[in-house]
Amino acid sequence: MKKIITLLFAAIAIMSCNKTSQNEQVEILRDKPWQEISPSEIELNPLQMIDRDWLEVSAGKEGKMNLMTISWGSIGELWNKPIFTVYVSTSRYTHQFMEENDYFTVTHFPASMKEKLAYLGRVSGRDEDKVAGAGLTVEFTELGNPIYAEADLAIECRKIYAQQFDACLLPPEQRAWYEQTGNGIHYMYIGEILHVWKK
Ligand SMILES: Cc1cc2nc3c(=O)[nH]c(=O)nc-3n(C[C@H](O)[C@H](O)[C@H](O)COP(=O)(O)O)c2cc1C
Repeated sequence: MKKIITLLFAAIAIMSCNKTSQNEQVEILRDKPWQEISPSEIELNPLQMIDRDWLEVSAGKEGKMNLMTISWGSIGELWNKPIFTVYVSTSRYTHQFMEENDYFTVTHFPASMKEKLAYLGRVSGRDEDKVAGAGLTVEFTELGNPIYAEADLAIECRKIYAQQFDACLLPPEQRAWYEQTGNGIHYMYIGEILHVWKK
């Protein structure tokens, strides 16, 4: 009997632990200090991080910034610099911020934040305060660029090259996609990775 009661208590403890772990994960991250790592120490698989988990790209300064969800991007090396490239359509409000600012950040969030990332990829900063809508806590880097207390990885980049895809050079399938969707043709923004922080 004593054994059964002990097992019951253990099961309840495990269950209550599982129930709160997802919600608490973000709370814990919010209070956890950032730790700087080198770009080569990023452990996440690039396709998992970009295409499956999704990321936020943010640009601007305190009082005038915007962010949006991305699942297109690439991480690598160019001109002997570690780089992160994002692809932003001219239809996005964020495009204006990418044009006006010399820096951008890319942030990754725990899986429990996926619904918020979907919201940030559905709604435009033209219509809503998306930071408030997603309940994010903005922090500004020493260079004044936005990252978020709820994120578990933040990459700060300096724009080193920006160019819109040339409509004439697009593969026919992609050209048709732009025509059908009415999406503005994407700009590619290549950023030199200056800092990477993880929690
Ligand atoms: C999962 C997901 C991935 C997305 N990836 C991109 C992307 O890589 N590039 C892009 O231009 N838009 C992308 N979008 C669309 C923008 O996030 C969306 O249009 C957003 O509302 C733009 O916000 P803004 O107008 O405040 O900039 C994505 C949306 C979602 C939901």
